[in-house]
Amino acid sequence: MLVSAKEMLQKAKAGHYAVGHFNINNLEWTKAVLLTAEELKSPVILGVSEGAGKYMTGFKTVVGMVNAMLEELNITVPVALHLDHGSYDGCMKCIEAGFSSIMFDGSHYPIEENVEKTKELVKLAHDKGMSIEAEVGAIGGEEDGVVGTGECADPNECKAIADLGVDMLAAGIGNIHGKYPENWAGLSFETLDAIQQQTGDMPLVLHGGTGIPEDMIKKAISLGVAKINVNTECQLSFAAATREYIEAGKDQQGKGFDPRKLLAPGTEAIKATVKEKMELFGSVGKA
Ligand code: 13P
Repeated sequence: MLVSAKEMLQKAKAGHYAVGHFNINNLEWTKAVLLTAEELKSPVILGVSEGAGKYMTGFKTVVGMVNAMLEELNITVPVALHLDHGSYDGCMKCIEAGFSSIMFDGSHYPIEENVEKTKELVKLAHDKGMSIEAEVGAIGGEEDGVVGTGECADPNECKAIADLGVDMLAAGIGNIHGKYPENWAGLSFETLDAIQQQTGDMPLVLHGGTGIPEDMIKKAISLGVAKINVNTECQLSFAAATREYIEAGKDQQGKGFDPRKLLAPGTEAIKATVKEKMELFGSVGKA
């Protein structure tokens, strides 16, 4: 059964580790993440962007697929199904569809409007036993057409949003979605420290988990980050393994590619990436 992300993140923050949020795009991705979490006895968060939800034909399909997989694969570790960077309407749809967690990304609204909309969604989500993530200060790079500039959040604004009762808070600290540029300044630990001081026990979320050096990940966890989002790295490992399989010409003696065999190396590659991240984040054995 899907669970809200609240409890797993409170435990992670108290235990000084982070739970991985891995974006899913299809059946193979989902299977790879769930099997790895179960094997490593790690809690996990499945992230679904609005674009990925649309690709999978809608949020209801995603809920149906994930719930069935939890049962058919005998998954016993805590799993949250979470909307990633949701709009107000997207959040409403996921609340209806049976997700167990949502992120409302109101970072592009003026702070007053972000507060207003977040407040409404906190009530709706909590009435259904779901957890909710809010965002302050845009995260750099582009995700599903949402472009951010990589700014650092204002710790006072973080406190204003945290006080609305959200379960986790994403705050920009110089992090960027996708690959980091050569001249990236690194994470602003000064900002992270100030945010944690303002928000106390609130589990903090680090987006843009791909390509952040290990020492920075560990330091971020020591300063209150309890959820780390990873997407691009799974895409890269999946694409590389699939490309290698095709280039090796492993089709069925001229009869074309068997889709199950074609997608198997990519699925294994995602498993390896997820495993590496769970070990780095310290969530192994914490289920
Ligand atoms: P990356 O694509 O950089 O791993 O970021 C993922 C993310 O933050 C999803 O919200």
